[in-house]
Amino acid sequence: MNFIKVEEQIEPFVALVELNRPKELNALNHELMEELRAALAMLDANASVRVIILTGNDKAFAAGADIKQMADKTAIEMVMEDRFRTWDQIRLTKKPIIAAVSGFALGGGCELAMTCDMIMASETAKFGQPEVRIGTIPGAGGTQRMTKAIGKAKSMELILSGRFLSAQEALSYGLVNHVFPLETYMMETIKLAKEIAAYSPVAVQLAKEAVNRSFETHLEEGLAFERKSFYLTFASEDQKEGMKAFVEKRTPSYKGK
Ligand code: CAA
Repeated sequence: MNFIKVEEQIEPFVALVELNRPKELNALNHELMEELRAALAMLDANASVRVIILTGNDKAFAAGADIKQMADKTAIEMVMEDRFRTWDQIRLTKKPIIAAVSGFALGGGCELAMTCDMIMASETAKFGQPEVRIGTIPGAGGTQRMTKAIGKAKSMELILSGRFLSAQEALSYGLVNHVFPLETYMMETIKLAKEIAAYSPVAVQLAKEAVNRSFETHLEEGLAFERKSFYLTFASEDQKEGMKAFVEKRTPSYKGK
């Protein structure tokens, strides 16, 4: 891996993926995105990983798609490269992904954070979709995910002006889950990851899928999907263990079965 670093077990059942193109502020070139896709697929298939943390460095989570790599492309080259197929595969990762964001999360970087399931931010984080400033628009889901996350008025303002949101603004708009000082945001992210990783991975994956369904479908279908997933947990040993442990007043031990 040239552009990312992967640690499969920073804590039991918690993996860390770090974007690692610091000089270019983690600009997302093709190669990095392909490495990221492959790493997430590998971690998704690894039973000893239950939660994935995706991060950058203090200065940048990612400053967007690699502008230098795109600048001279024709529309047809962009179509034929089908660069967003990689992004679709990231979206389909079954295990929860928590973005730990410090510094710039702009353009594709903001879209990548929003593709994750939760965003934990440091006080220095800056979010934005500044594509309009370089004559284009968001292409990796920004117009859709931003609008669903913070509503039309704010999203329209951000995307049409290209201006950046501070971490505190992003928190008040509901774009991020929490904001912590730079010194502690990663520790807090790991704490949340460990909490989720202690639960049944069967239940966690089904819950993630059901929440995501609420964005993709209407209420009737979403409720039916949730109900079936709920019933399905009763086919797992983890559900038996979880409920039995509650009745017996002890801590459950989940196996992912
Ligand atoms: N692509 C390629 N290189 C980038 C980059 C990007 N998105 N963002 C930063 N870099 C490079 C810079 O070119 C610079 O490289 P050199 O030293 O070789 O010149 C290096 O990273 C450091 O950047 P700056 O010197 O610009 O750092 P700064 O602190 O002065 O400014 C910044 C930081 C405000 C983030 C500024 O770099 C910037 O505006 N970056 C571009 C942000 C952007 O427009 N992102 C959207 C991209 S398009 C997109 O993402 C489409 C999509 O929907 C998928």
